[in-house]
Amino acid sequence: MKVLVTGGMGYIGSHTCVQMIEAGMTPIIFDNLYNSKATVLPRLENLTGAAPKFVQGDIRDKALLVETMREHAIEAVIHFAGLKAVGESVQKPLEYYDNNVNGTLVLVDAMREVGIKSLVFSSSATVYGDPASVPILESFPTSATNPYGRSKLMVEECLTDFQTANPDWSITLLRYFNPVGSHPSGDLGEDPQGIPNNLMPFISQVAVGRREHLSVFGSDYPTHDGTGVRDYIHVMDLADGHIAALNKVGNKSGLHIYNLGTGNGLSVLDMVKAFEAASDKEIPYQLVDRRQGDIAECWADPSKARKELEWSADRTVDEMTRDTWNWQSKNPQGYPDL
Ligand code: NAD
Ligand code: UFG
Repeated sequence: MKVLVTGGMGYIGSHTCVQMIEAGMTPIIFDNLYNSKATVLPRLENLTGAAPKFVQGDIRDKALLVETMREHAIEAVIHFAGLKAVGESVQKPLEYYDNNVNGTLVLVDAMREVGIKSLVFSSSATVYGDPASVPILESFPTSATNPYGRSKLMVEECLTDFQTANPDWSITLLRYFNPVGSHPSGDLGEDPQGIPNNLMPFISQVAVGRREHLSVFGSDYPTHDGTGVRDYIHVMDLADGHIAALNKVGNKSGLHIYNLGTGNGLSVLDMVKAFEAASDKEIPYQLVDRRQGDIAECWADPSKARKELEWSADRTVDEMTRDTWNWQSKNPQGYPDL
């Protein structure tokens, strides 16, 4: 199957391309390299033996999308492209709505013009806002607390309306919990530009000596050790979730919504300890105030995906930390420029 992968040069997209090729699918990457490096491409080739086709372009460029879809006889689209930094979204809401919401509308319009009716969209557990309880089911109410989250929610709502008006389309909303880890080779990984916002890249940059210490945001949450609890999912499991979604529901008309998480909650300090064990490095940390907008606990009930997609996230926290460390220690400064 030929699949257009928007944002395929990025963290989750690149890992998904590896797993797609392993599964016999043909990814065609469409990415503007805003938050990724061209070096990813030769690494994908080394890992899989096949260089995926790559088109450098912006998802807001409808003409280029249509041309690419026609040229490569695309059958389905996985849509990762977008901006994802919560703090930045508060400073630059227009950029976030333009890239994430407008970009998705242009993409769907291009698909409609070409006649492609199968779409998998990268959504996020952020659409649950501050959940009333955990674990979180797909049926829980949705809300947003920042422009990034609102952009994901808006896209979900636009796609829901679009699917209602076009019942022969298959649209799948995958709500990711907290993706971490790397390809086990250490040749692909998460490479944030500037100071990492997310916990795992921050810890791994402390371990490799790029940062002095971790600030633990909040130690007075009602959790087992007072620090925030999340559902960390190995990026390779997440990648497999996209293939399961394409195979199981990508051909079934309807709106399909799944949590992609493990169903386990781990605290910040649990992750620090696991990383210390994997890397054999001490991670100095300081307990500081809560980060604005953070919630105490967020973890998935992934049973719907297990049942309907026959998929589950089984890689352990030891694999998550080991693979992250493997990537970070092999690539202390992240991806080099080509
Ligand atoms: P990433 O930034 O590593 O990858 C996104 C890719 O999209 C980058 O390669 C970037 O260059 C590209 N891109 C951005 N805007 C574009 C545009 N207008 N046109 C073409 N390409 C564009 O991010 P990621 O962590 O791989 O996340 C992928 C998707 O998953 C995003 O939509 C993100 O919101 C969503 N998501 C991520 C997380 C997470 O914690 N990483 C959690 C939930 C959801
Ligand atoms: N944390 C720290 N120190 C840091 C960074 C994070 O203590 O330097 C803590 C946070 O307070 C939180 C936990 O580590 O308790 C995880 O924080 P992340 O920033 O890694 O992840 P979030 O759960 O805040 O958010 C992530 C993505 C969002 C996505 C959400 C979905 O960044 O885009 O998961 O659950 F929407």
